[in-house]
Amino acid sequence: MSSFKQIVELIADDLTAVEAKLTEQTASEYSFVDMAVQHVVEGGGKRLRPILVVLSAKVCGYEGSDAHTLAAVVELIHVASLVHDDVLDEAAIRRGRETLQTKWGNKVAVLVGDYLHARVLSMLVARRADDPAMAILADTTQAMCEGEVIHAYKSGDFDISEAEYLKIISFKTGKLITASCTLGAHLGTTDKQTLEALTTYGQQIGTAFQIVDDVLDFTEDTDKLGKNAFGDLREGKLTFPIIYARSVCNDDEKQTLEKVLNSNTDEAEAIAFVESLFQHYGVEVHCLKVAQNYADRAKVALTVLPEIPARVALEQLADYVVARES
Ligand code: FPP
Ligand code: MG
Repeated sequence: MSSFKQIVELIADDLTAVEAKLTEQTASEYSFVDMAVQHVVEGGGKRLRPILVVLSAKVCGYEGSDAHTLAAVVELIHVASLVHDDVLDEAAIRRGRETLQTKWGNKVAVLVGDYLHARVLSMLVARRADDPAMAILADTTQAMCEGEVIHAYKSGDFDISEAEYLKIISFKTGKLITASCTLGAHLGTTDKQTLEALTTYGQQIGTAFQIVDDVLDFTEDTDKLGKNAFGDLREGKLTFPIIYARSVCNDDEKQTLEKVLNSNTDEAEAIAFVESLFQHYGVEVHCLKVAQNYADRAKVALTVLPEIPARVALEQLADYVVARES
């Protein structure tokens, strides 16, 4: 059995409770709204963020049901951000299903994203207004938006640096993954060292997660990914593997790469060029090594925590983020 399956099994009851919370908290009495909302809420996905909330809470000694509410909250923020991201990226498939804007158009997609945010606010208010979750999630949502805006703004900039890109992904992807860990930890502890350890863990696996996401876009097929392979390349998006390839290739290749990303080069030709470039410079191996370094740093951050099953699961999860195929 894969380590991911083992982790899911370890917290199976919690995840069932999270699924129930997700369905119950997003139901609408209007049937079309309900259909569109459930299309994305039920739409599969690994539930990585809820798993992180639950494990972070457990590793700090918390076992109550508030972890399920917070796990559902972060998953809903994630789903809402993906619904909007698919509008921005004009993506056709997500989690193996048609995206909302393909099925029902941009207006429905934007509004369903907003609906999910409204539900998140209600869920947080229903808990209590005086806890850190409100501030953490307000900051997180703002940073995610900022990350996406900067990425969109920089999308035509062939010279974006690796440092700039790492900053963008720490915002657009890292913040919610980090918040998942910090929120869970707050449920069980006020100890500063423990909170910092889980925050660092989240930051490191967040970056690893997005680097691997960028790699998978080039290396896996649409069926496995549940979204279109080569989607980033089609959009001319500069992602981690491309930024690395650009830094090691020769001037001729660099020029061709820029042309392939910016113009209407035949898609098959563009894919063939990038694949041969990646092959030649060992781009996939390099990027996965960088991602593994982040995962290793995440694991080091956990060493201050007690060696209980939840900590072991978090360590395994860090490796899974790099080893995953979808
Ligand atoms: C997927 O990135 C998108 C994100 C990680 C963040 C999306 C954030 C927003 C749309 C800002 C608004 C967010 C909120 C919470 C209001 P990707 O396109 O690299 O990955 P993909 O290949 O899975 O689409
Ligand atoms: Mg996208």
